Amino acid sequence: MTDRLTIRRPDDWHVHLRDGAMLQAVAGHTARQFARAIIMPNLTPPVTGIAMAQAYRDRIRAALGEDVDFMPLMTCYLTDHSDAEEIAAGHAAGVFTACKLYPAHATTNSAHGVTDILRLTTVLETLQRIGMPLLIHGEVTDRSIDIFDREAVFVERVLTPLTRDYPALKIVLEHITTAEAAAFVAEAAHPIAATITPQHLLINRNAIFDGGLRPHAYCLPVLKRETHRLAVRRAAVSGSPRFFLGTDSAPHVVGAKESGCGCAGIFNAPFALEAYLRVFEEENALDRFEGFASEHGARFYGLPLNDGTVTLVRKAVTVPDRIGDVVPFLAGETLGWRFEG
Ligand code: DOR
Ligand code: ZN
Repeated sequence: MTDRLTIRRPDDWHVHLRDGAMLQAVAGHTARQFARAIIMPNLTPPVTGIAMAQAYRDRIRAALGEDVDFMPLMTCYLTDHSDAEEIAAGHAAGVFTACKLYPAHATTNSAHGVTDILRLTTVLETLQRIGMPLLIHGEVTDRSIDIFDREAVFVERVLTPLTRDYPALKIVLEHITTAEAAAFVAEAAHPIAATITPQHLLINRNAIFDGGLRPHAYCLPVLKRETHRLAVRRAAVSGSPRFFLGTDSAPHVVGAKESGCGCAGIFNAPFALEAYLRVFEEENALDRFEGFASEHGARFYGLPLNDGTVTLVRKAVTVPDRIGDVVPFLAGETLGWRFEG
């Protein structure tokens, strides 16, 4: 039995580091495990331009301190009024790595998101031309569609025509949760990939209602039924270069979660690699963990692989009930691997 696993330093291709006091509290957890991360731009106000992204990147670096070797990869939040020239200039200058499409009102701080993808024609043509990835929160916002169906309906109604209209547009479908999304990404004759979170691999929608209402298991896209969890697990451990690690770590203070209208988001950064590793071990796929965590994402983005390694050892580690003002994913549970650095 393997008791130590050493892999190339991994990256997190989807994380919310927030701002202000929360940024101070959480950034170190991501930087401890990952060399780089794609930083989500859904601040208030959202990160929509070059100057805002540079200033946010500076705040992230300042929160971590000079000695920490971590590269924040910034994203541009798309709105109905996004400026294609500014986006292209930001990409050329090395400020923006990708653009993020939130359908308006799909999730936390998405009120300024895109009301109709047809408004993005110039932006999408530009991204396709310059090879800049489009990262998508793939849920329709039509409130008449059942919340558990919003991702599958998005794949059918929005993603399918999008890939037809922009055949060379690099797309990352973020935090996939359904068999439909996994199949689309695996099979499409298109440059498309998907990130997968630890929560969508480890728990299903029963966790939200386990003996009572469990706000700390609530995220968006919402957890789905077991058949979907199993399909997403198969995709993650398949070895396909189209699937890679993106935690979607999304901290909210405990009071904002345990509320009459609790915020969506699961804070999984402190034990992210340990949580993913549980899945790969259960699926007898430890040999595929490095590809998922450290190679597939960089290759899809066209970025170099990291130098250096990290090691995980087989040792029990119990996730604390609280980390600062936030309840972490798997609080109180014991995991079988420990990140050593
Ligand atoms: O659960 C989520 N939380 N899903 C998102 O799409 C946004 C995120 C957040 O920012 O809290
Ligand atoms: Zn997210």
